[in-house]
Amino acid sequence: MEHQRDQPVTLLDVRDLQVEFHTRDGVAKAVNGVNYSVDPGETLAVLGESGSGKSVTAQAVMGILDSPPGRITGGQVLFRGEDLLTMGAETRRRIRGAKMSMIFQDALSALNPVMSVGAQLAEMYEVHDGMTRKDSRAKAVQLMDRVRIPAAKDRVGDYPHQFSGGMRQRIMIAMALALEPDLVIADEPTTALDVTVQAQVMDLLAELQREYNMGLILITHDLGVVADVADKIAVMYAGRIVETAPVHELYAAPAHPYTRGLLDSIPRLDQKGRQLYAIKGLPPNLTAIPPGCPFNPRCPMAQDICRTDRPPLFAVAHGRASACHFWKETLDER
Ligand SMILES: Nc1ncnc2c1ncn2[C@@H]1O[C@H](COP(=O)(O)OP(=O)(O)OP(=O)(O)O)[C@@H](O)[C@H]1O
Ligand code: SF4
Ligand SMILES: [Mg+2]
Repeated sequence: MEHQRDQPVTLLDVRDLQVEFHTRDGVAKAVNGVNYSVDPGETLAVLGESGSGKSVTAQAVMGILDSPPGRITGGQVLFRGEDLLTMGAETRRRIRGAKMSMIFQDALSALNPVMSVGAQLAEMYEVHDGMTRKDSRAKAVQLMDRVRIPAAKDRVGDYPHQFSGGMRQRIMIAMALALEPDLVIADEPTTALDVTVQAQVMDLLAELQREYNMGLILITHDLGVVADVADKIAVMYAGRIVETAPVHELYAAPAHPYTRGLLDSIPRLDQKGRQLYAIKGLPPNLTAIPPGCPFNPRCPMAQDICRTDRPPLFAVAHGRASACHFWKETLDER
């Protein structure tokens, strides 16, 4: 995919973001200094096990964090160089309303069940662009066509529950793209769908992303999904980015043992019958993240230093970083 190298400022630049949840069991440190960025036309995949902070980071960026109990305790969310966390409320609302949008896993709960899909799409144009009812309805049909809903014209008056899961997900993509945002965050957009439909919806999303030159953040726990669509990957563990790399480089040679574990646990057609690897143990309790490297209790390469010294993100190569004391040894093992 083409990167826009001449872009003066990064589209979205998340810097040292920190989010806590105050719970009965203590303070859960869900996001602990996340850094990532995405440019126009670029796709960043954010990967990690359940509970690693992928969604909470996205919610903080979008301004939809469950707060309380959640609280942003540090960092910046720069949109075209301006910090969403400190700018005036009116400007922030305008950016988040029209320039950024989100696609969720569960379209049925994200869409309004008592409003036809056509009316929901049309409403966006009426509210944001001041379109007349007639024009907005025509745009809604156009958009449904664009996301390849068969017989869009006849189905514009149907309600969300009258569509299949895959079609509903297309409608949610249409909603998210209606105002031609600069940035879309898709949080597990295909997880609820069966495999063939997953691929179709992902292809559609990738196609529209290219066409509109949007920045796309694709959150997933499925490494298999991102190989074809992402430019770069950020791997999260216990609220931190532990490895970032261009997608093909990460696949060819991971520089973090956690990433290697994730790669080794993907089923591969060419190795049928082979015992599938699973990373042993569980992610840490976020109210008591272990000292040193948070991955050390599960890491097959852990040494003494890993239990005492927290590894920063070491620069591994251009565009690559790994939060592992032994990134070099890990790379060399491939
Ligand atoms: N509403 C909440 N109240 C309390 N804690 C929360 C809340 N939402 C998230 N957390 C905490 O933040 C952690 C990270 O959650 P997050 O939803 O970002 O995980 P995720 O990486 O998106 O996982 P998944 O793959 O399951 O979606 C959770 O493990 C939990 O400890
Ligand atoms: S720093 Fe140590 S424990 Fe952490 S991933 Fe690297 S080798 Fe494993
Ligand atoms: Mg999530």
